Amino acid sequence: MKEGARVGYAARRLDRLEEAARAAGNEAFAVECDVCDEASIQAAVATAVAALGGLDALVYTPGIATFQPLAEIDADCWHRVLATNLIGPSLALRASIAHLEESRGKAVIVSSIVIDDRPPRAGNAPYVVSKTGLETLVQAWQGEHRAVGFTAIAMADTLTEFGQNEALAQLDRMQELVQDWVQDGYMYGRTMDPESVAEQIVSALKSRETVRRVAITPHYSADPNGVSEIWSE
Ligand SMILES: NC(=O)c1ccc[n+]([C@@H]2O[C@H](COP(=O)([O-])OP(=O)(O)OC[C@H]3O[C@@H](n4cnc5c(N)ncnc54)[C@H](OP(=O)(O)O)[C@@H]3O)[C@@H](O)[C@H]2O)c1
Repeated sequence: MKEGARVGYAARRLDRLEEAARAAGNEAFAVECDVCDEASIQAAVATAVAALGGLDALVYTPGIATFQPLAEIDADCWHRVLATNLIGPSLALRASIAHLEESRGKAVIVSSIVIDDRPPRAGNAPYVVSKTGLETLVQAWQGEHRAVGFTAIAMADTLTEFGQNEALAQLDRMQELVQDWVQDGYMYGRTMDPESVAEQIVSALKSRETVRRVAITPHYSADPNGVSEIWSE
């Protein structure tokens, strides 16, 4: 926004979007959208294209996680995670691709650094699997649509509302899981600010070339073995 771009925000809670659009200024606008519903995505993209006179970029950020062992994950849980994290981005690209091709624009899709962890973080499998598939999906879209530049941003733990409801519902288990992740060397002793990730998104959008993948993690804290402050309650 500071770069002068005109932006539309899309998500389910319109009141929060409208507040964000007001704060952003530069005629930013809000569009209600549920990425688990293809008609809703198509309507949101059509609204944005009409308001902007086209589309230079799509940034896909929605993602949800679960914090349960695989043996507890039922079909409904798999469907929910994959709908938001894997199918949603493909449907959003499907709705936008003709406009992005016309502008020879950019698509930035937010992934997660957890897919680089081996073995995957215990208790987080549907999320890890969905984001692993997501990065392959981004490459597949790039292969089929050369006029558009696709970027996957693999981000590490960042202080947002991400996973809070799921985590708060089972706080004891979360503390154990995070201790395990710390022992496995998967945490950094601190979390990042969302602005650090936003800078990478803007940088990929502004780049004259296609940035294929960005991986961003916190700079290690003085105590990299500490539990990240996000779960320290
Ligand atoms: N925060 C982290 O530690 C972290 C680490 C690695 C990767 N990531 C990834 O970063 C991305 C952004 O996460 P975040 O930290 O910003 O999470 P967040 O604070 O939970 O925000 C998620 C956003 O997505 C929207 N959203 C969720 N489900 C949606 C749906 N069905 N349809 C439309 N919008 C939906 C939410 O708005 P509504 O609820 O109003 O729809 C909200 O604005 C995610 O893809 C996540 O996997 C996050």
